[in-house]
Amino acid sequence: METKVLPINEESIALAARLLREGELVALPTETVYGIAADARNGEAVKKIFLAKGRPQDNPLIVHICGMEMLHGIVAEVPERAKKLAAAYWPGPLTMVLPKGPEVSPVTCAGLDTVGVRMPSHPVVQQVIRASGVAFAAPSANLSGKPSPTNAPDTLADMDGRLPLILDGGECAVGVESTVVSLVGEHPTLLRPGYITLEQLEAALGEPVEVSHAILEKLREGEVARSPGMKYKHYAPKAAVTILKGDFAAYRAFLQDHAQPGTWALCFDGEGAQLPVPAIEYGAENDGASQAHRLFTALRELDKHGAQVVYARCPRSDGVSMAVYNRLIRAAAFRVVTL
Ligand code: TXA
Ligand code: MG
Repeated sequence: METKVLPINEESIALAARLLREGELVALPTETVYGIAADARNGEAVKKIFLAKGRPQDNPLIVHICGMEMLHGIVAEVPERAKKLAAAYWPGPLTMVLPKGPEVSPVTCAGLDTVGVRMPSHPVVQQVIRASGVAFAAPSANLSGKPSPTNAPDTLADMDGRLPLILDGGECAVGVESTVVSLVGEHPTLLRPGYITLEQLEAALGEPVEVSHAILEKLREGEVARSPGMKYKHYAPKAAVTILKGDFAAYRAFLQDHAQPGTWALCFDGEGAQLPVPAIEYGAENDGASQAHRLFTALRELDKHGAQVVYARCPRSDGVSMAVYNRLIRAAAFRVVTL
C-alpha cells in the first residue's frame, strides 16, 4: 500500500473524512501525539489499527469526539464527575474511562464494558471529525512498543506501507499521550499521567483521585492491569536505557567512570556539553512540560544515532513530570539506579 503524506488543506481533510467513512485508516496529529484513526463503530475498520501497529488485541483504544452531544451512544451515561472534568479540561489532553455505550464496536474496547473517550483540542482532529461525522478510535501512531511519534516524519517511519494517508500538521505541542482517568469505580483513579496533572484533576473534581500504583512501579507478578496498556513494554528505543537518580555532579562522575563507545547521555538542557559522552537533551530540569514535549523525539533520535547504552537524568515525579517519569521508566524497563 502506498502511504501519502499530505499538508493540511480542504482537500486533504476531505480525503481523510472519506477514508474514515469507508472504513480505512488515517494517521493525523493531535495536541498530544500523532494517532491512527478508524471509525470507532466499525469493528472491521478498527481491526486494521491493531494490524498496522502490531498491537495486542486486548489493549482498548480511546474514542475521539468533537462535542459533548457526540457522547450519546458512545457512553452509557455521563456521570457528574465527567461533567466537571469536561467543563474544566475539554477540549484537551484528557481521556475519561466511562461505561460503554451501544454504538462503540467491542473491538474498540477490547471487549471491556467501559470506553475511554477524549475531546482533543487540535484543530485538525476537530475538522476531520466534523467533515466525516465519525467519532474515531485512535491509538498513538507508533509500532507497538516504540515511542509515540510527535511529528509526521516519525509517523511515516513506523507506518509507511501500513495505511493510506498521513496528515502532516507539524509537531505536537504536548508530546506525551493524554492523561487517562477512570470514573467507573467508587473513586476516580488516575490510570495514565499526562499534561493534565493529578493536582488539576483533584482541583476540578473537588475530591482526591487515587493513583494506580502501576504508574510509577512495575505491575506485580500475575496482577490484572486496570488499564491493559500498562502491562506492555512501551516507549523503548533500541538502546538499553538506565535512569540515574541523583544530582548533575554525581551523574557526570558516573558517566566519566562508564563512558564506552556507543554510550549516550539523555540529559537536561545545557548539560550535554559538560559530559564525556555524546548527549541528547530532553528539556529543562524543573520544567515537566518542556521534557514532555521533547522526550519521545529524543528517544527516537538516540536510535537514529545508533546509541547502544543510554544513561538518563531522572525527572521529578510530580506535576507534568509524573507523565515524563512514567514513560521514561518504561523506556528503561524499570532500571533506575540511585547515585
Ligand atoms: O493522547 C492520546 O491519548 C493519544 C492520541 C492519539 O489521542 N492516544 C493514545 O492511545 O495514547 P493509546 O491507544 O496509545 O493509549 C490508550 C491507553 C492505553 O493504555 C489503554 O490501555 C487505555 O488508554 N485505555 C483505553 N480504553 C480503556 C478502558 N476502557 N479502560 C482502561 N484503560 C483504557
Ligand atoms: Mg500508545
